[in-house]
Amino acid sequence: MIKKAILPVAGLGTRFLPASKSIPKEMVTVVDRPAIEYVVKEAVAAGIEQIILVTHSSKASIENYFDRNFELETTLENKKKYDLLKLITEIVPAHVSIVSVRQPQPLGLGHAVLCAKDIVGDAPFAVLLPDVLVKDSDPENDISLMIKRFSASQASQIMVEAVPDHLVDQYGIVDVASSPAEGQSVVMQGIVEKPAVGTAPSNLSVVGRYVLPAKIMQLLEQTPKGAGNEIQLTDAIAALQTTDTVEAYRMKGQTFDCGSKLGYLKAVLHYGVAHPHLGEDFKALIKELAL
Ligand code: G1P
Repeated sequence: MIKKAILPVAGLGTRFLPASKSIPKEMVTVVDRPAIEYVVKEAVAAGIEQIILVTHSSKASIENYFDRNFELETTLENKKKYDLLKLITEIVPAHVSIVSVRQPQPLGLGHAVLCAKDIVGDAPFAVLLPDVLVKDSDPENDISLMIKRFSASQASQIMVEAVPDHLVDQYGIVDVASSPAEGQSVVMQGIVEKPAVGTAPSNLSVVGRYVLPAKIMQLLEQTPKGAGNEIQLTDAIAALQTTDTVEAYRMKGQTFDCGSKLGYLKAVLHYGVAHPHLGEDFKALIKELAL
């Protein structure tokens, strides 16, 4: 089974300025938790036991968030604030470890994944891009189904969703003979990073969830710079697909692009109304504001 997940968090988040000027975009709060926590929880719900953060010197607050904070814990304990103590000590379950490695230069997503090569070793792994939150009401989430499918077939899994035709140039786009049903995978014929509008092989976009074999690391080592003059994970997947089966998995959950301001606000609304303690009051607030 797949137990390791790479979360590339080294990006500077220019789409989220000014907020991301002095805090990592992954630490921006969605309701009462930083965005990255939702992605870590998504991975943990799918059975992941080691989270590998590929990070940058300016982003120590992400590592601090997942570390113990002895001073805060002691203070809360002394003040008998056990509810708060529980909140901060149960962010990730005890069997999950969070490790980090630096991406020394901003050479692209493919390069970021490659930075985790030594930690991943010979095992297959998942990649979750933390800009996108995936909300799923089913007990078994999309990444969990992708891992099951990989374990059964050894076919790499690339999560996709349909996007309007005029937006294909913002995503990786897959080439498939027919579009899979939600929750299903089909063999991919190709994948291309950010094709120009009118040239895309489909409107199925790569969401930012992948299940890949360890050999993708060797392919990444040989991948030249591609779109945006960066080493693209998409290009290494295209190379993998010439020798191995790669499948497009069509997601059933809902995505929120928290790298964009409007996507972030939408996420706050959706996660806010679903919050176990704040949801009802938040709904009342929204009704009060309804224009
Ligand atoms: C990356 C991937 C792209 C994918 C997108 C999803 O692009 O390279 O294939 O569709 O994430 O968010 P980026 O958004 O980093 O430019």
